[in-house]
Amino acid sequence: MGQTRWYRERRDDPYFKQAKKAGYRARSAYKLQQINNKFKVVKKGAAVADLGCAPGGWSQVLVELVGEDGLVVGVDLQRTRPIEGARFLQGDFTQQDTRDRLSAILEEAGRGALDAVVSDMAPDMSGNYDLDQARSVHLSTLALEFADRHLREGGNFVCKVFEGADFQEFRAAVRERFRSVRLVHPAASRKQSSEVFVVGLRFQGAPDGDEEE
Ligand SMILES: C[S@@+](CC[C@H](N)C(=O)[O-])C[C@H]1O[C@@H](n2cnc3c(N)ncnc32)[C@H](O)[C@@H]1O
Repeated sequence: MGQTRWYRERRDDPYFKQAKKAGYRARSAYKLQQINNKFKVVKKGAAVADLGCAPGGWSQVLVELVGEDGLVVGVDLQRTRPIEGARFLQGDFTQQDTRDRLSAILEEAGRGALDAVVSDMAPDMSGNYDLDQARSVHLSTLALEFADRHLREGGNFVCKVFEGADFQEFRAAVRERFRSVRLVHPAASRKQSSEVFVVGLRFQGAPDGDEEE
């Protein structure tokens, strides 16, 4: 898309305007709100990991949802400017070391298992859809493995994925672990977007032999 068209579309986008007015750092905040209004994935007092959290729109919504007794810990390749009530880690989630650092922060927080894992991670767009889509599925699979390790029984999972090859396998893997699985195209997603949010409700555990070491 040309730059001028991108700026024009952004200027005319109602969610962009609304986010700016409400003080949300990203219009994507409304995607999480819309998903949560429908499925109540995050409740007051919950402990939540926010994967791919920068610039912080979802974290802003999460902090509001969990309230003072909750916990929000985010990770991103990019630095996320501080938000009161959230903790952020900068690192590459595809690296074991980053996942271990995130696990250590969660352990230190002393909250036990998480109530929800949410991921809005998206690869840098190369312009080659097949490649970008394969990377998106890879990030989503790592997010699901992280959920295997950290979610409490009955916990919830939200994960953005690009539709295409291996999407059905990913969806089946979520279905194996959660009592109910829903696919959502939030109204706030752009019309031309091929992203879908896979929502796993009420975690039952990973199938034997599938847990991360
Ligand atoms: C759509 S943005 C997230 C927006 C965020 N949910 C918000 O509301 O502000 C996708 C994010 O995924 C992050 N990301 C992509 N690959 C990643 C990786 N390997 N590790 C950590 N974060 C990653 C990007 O840096 C980017 O900030």
